[in-house]
Amino acid sequence: MAWYAGHFYLLRRLAAQVRKQEGEQPTAQPDPRITRRLNADIAALLEQDLANVETGVYPLPADHDGSLLTMLDRSRLFFRDLPSVEKRRRRNATHEVLNANTRGKLPNYYLQNFHFQSGGWLTDESADRYDTQVEVLFKGTANAMRRQALPPLAQAFTGRDQRKLQLVDLGCGTGRFLDCVKQGWPRLPVLGLDLSEAYVRHARRHLKRWSRTTLVVGNAEGIALRDSSCATRLQAYLCCTSCRRRSAAR
Ligand SMILES: C[S@@+](CC[C@H](N)C(=O)[O-])C[C@H]1O[C@@H](n2cnc3c(N)ncnc32)[C@H](O)[C@@H]1O
Repeated sequence: MAWYAGHFYLLRRLAAQVRKQEGEQPTAQPDPRITRRLNADIAALLEQDLANVETGVYPLPADHDGSLLTMLDRSRLFFRDLPSVEKRRRRNATHEVLNANTRGKLPNYYLQNFHFQSGGWLTDESADRYDTQVEVLFKGTANAMRRQALPPLAQAFTGRDQRKLQLVDLGCGTGRFLDCVKQGWPRLPVLGLDLSEAYVRHARRHLKRWSRTTLVVGNAEGIALRDSSCATRLQAYLCCTSCRRRSAAR
C-alpha cells in the first residue's frame, strides 16, 4: 500500500506542477469528509482481509508482483505514460481507440480509453501498465478488494473436492483475481475469459506458475450461461468460436 499510495501522491504533485506551468487553476482539494470516509473504508477492508486470513478463509496473500527491479520497471512504464494520459484528460479524449482499424471488429462500448488509458484494452503496453494504474487508483488495495469475493467461494466449495469443480472468470483481465483464487485453491481448474488478446497474453504469463489454468480470448456477451450450467458448455462455445474464426480466415 505504501508503494502505490506513494505513486498516488507523487502523481497528484506532478499534475499540480503541470497545471501551474500551464497557468491553470489548481484543482480543488478533495473534501476532507470524503477523504476520511475513504480512509475508514480502506481500514475496514484491511481488517476484513486480515480476519479472513486469521479464520482460514484464504492463506496469507502473496501480493508482490515480482522483484524490486520488476516493480521499478512497472513504475517507469506508469510514469512515462502519464503525459499522454494527462493530454487525453484535457481533451476529454475517451475514444481514440475507436478508429478505422478497430471499428466493427469489437463492440463499440469496448473501444474506449477507459480512465484515459493509452491503448484502451487493446495493446500489450496497456496490459503491462494496467495493474500499476489500478493499484495507484485504489492506493494499493485492489487485490484486497478482489479477495472479498473469495469468502462466498469458500462457502460454496466447503466439503467438495476442488479438483472436481470449475471456476470461470469472465473479464479476467491480467489474471489478478484468478491468482487470488489459485492461492487459496491451487488444484481448482479455472478458466479465464477476456475480450482483449493483449490482456489474455499478460494473464497467461502472470499465471504460468499455476496448473489447471486455461485462458482464452472471447466475448462474454455471446455466452448463454444459465445458473448451474458449467464451463463444459463454455468451452464448447469457445471451441466453436475459434473453429468459426478459423474457417472464416480460410
Ligand atoms: C476493469 S477490467 C477488470 C479486469 C479483472 N477482472 C480485474 O479484476 O482486474 C475489465 C476487463 O473486462 C474485459 N471485458 C470487457 N468487456 C468484455 C466482454 N464483452 N467480454 C470479455 N471481456 C470483456 C476487458 O478486456 C477488461 O480486461
